[in-house]
Amino acid sequence: MILVTGSAGFIGSNFVLDWCALHDEPVLSLDKLTYAGNLENLASLSDNPRHSFVQGDIGDAELVARLLAEHRPRAVINFAAESHVDRSIHGPEDFIQTNIVGTFHLLEAVRAYWGALPDAEKSAFRFLHVSTDEVYGSLVKDEPAFTELHRYEPNSPYSASKAASDHLVRAYHHTYGLPVLTTNCSNNYGPYHFPEKLIPLLIVNALAGKALPVYGDGQQIRDWLYVKDHCSAIRCVLEKGRLGEVYNVGGWNEKANLDIVHTVCDLLDELRPSSAGKSYAEQITFVTDRPGHDRRYAIDARKIERELGWKPAETFETGIRKTVQWYLDNQGWVNNVLSGNYRQWVEKQYGE
Ligand code: NAD
Ligand code: TYD
Repeated sequence: MILVTGSAGFIGSNFVLDWCALHDEPVLSLDKLTYAGNLENLASLSDNPRHSFVQGDIGDAELVARLLAEHRPRAVINFAAESHVDRSIHGPEDFIQTNIVGTFHLLEAVRAYWGALPDAEKSAFRFLHVSTDEVYGSLVKDEPAFTELHRYEPNSPYSASKAASDHLVRAYHHTYGLPVLTTNCSNNYGPYHFPEKLIPLLIVNALAGKALPVYGDGQQIRDWLYVKDHCSAIRCVLEKGRLGEVYNVGGWNEKANLDIVHTVCDLLDELRPSSAGKSYAEQITFVTDRPGHDRRYAIDARKIERELGWKPAETFETGIRKTVQWYLDNQGWVNNVLSGNYRQWVEKQYGE
């Protein structure tokens, strides 16, 4: 079985749903259920005997040690993190606690568990740490995309805390021989994305007749990857990745934010035209820029393609259409998030 942390969040839940659809191997989910954790994302697994969920903190060393001893996973995949740059600017402390201190406690518990495994299980064990391209800092126009050798230059409290966790993971391999793998991925989009991030915020605000806030001049560039492609990359690295190695994961899809906003508006105009007959683009509003806003991220994903044969399955055009359609088809999920009812999902679903 595998242990997946942060499994009620955006990428973790997509990963667990895809894993359970593709594999017979059981999954133990561990998530603290912060504001970003939504158990409704995993509702379709509530009767699946191969999936179990535990609410808890990766920084709770005693709990993690007990779960490892009881369930004896062959791998730990660590998605748990505070993940929103704007929140890290307003209040960095949670980011330091979970992304740095929490990862440290998780690594310590995993090191003790792994160290006591019999030889065969010990050599088969993997700790896969899910990280971000933001640790590499910002690129100027036409500068080559980030390779795995690019120096770390994190610019926000979020990216600095992820960079610190990457360094800890690296050190646990170098010093203790812990069999680790790290992935650094570009911006994801797709189902179950919390509507504080750009793409789901645009869809939700557009339909509600609200402003579509574009920071600064909207010319910041991100490399966008459909979430299910990120999940397939993680499965690929888990299966075939070389121990101690880092793999950059990206969609070869650099877009300026303003282009993303117009693409989402065009799709909504087509799929759910506004009753007033106006384009959603009329709701675009330029707002004050994010402090320290990184100008451009771009991922060079040639290593994972060359060594492990991974490539994204979706283009941006197919992925963004699926995403907009998913939000239109899942208004109940959106409403539960917006009303805050998703936080009562545990009681609603499982009673006391
Ligand atoms: P998310 O914010 O949607 O989900 C994070 C999950 O972690 C939530 O369910 C939350 O409850 C849980 N969590 C937070 N603190 C915890 C703790 N102390 N113990 C246990 N669980 C805790 O984030 P996401 O977008 O799904 O990102 C998942 C991972 O992927 C993060 O590590 C993030 O840095 C990384 N990543 C994200 C992106 C992206 O575009 N979203 C891109 C590259 C890498
Ligand atoms: P976001 O989804 O927060 O991801 P990240 O900051 O991790 O890249 O933001 C994506 C880009 O969109 C980023 O350049 C900031 C910008 N942005 C806006 O212009 N308006 C918004 O309301 C948000 C949330 C983001």
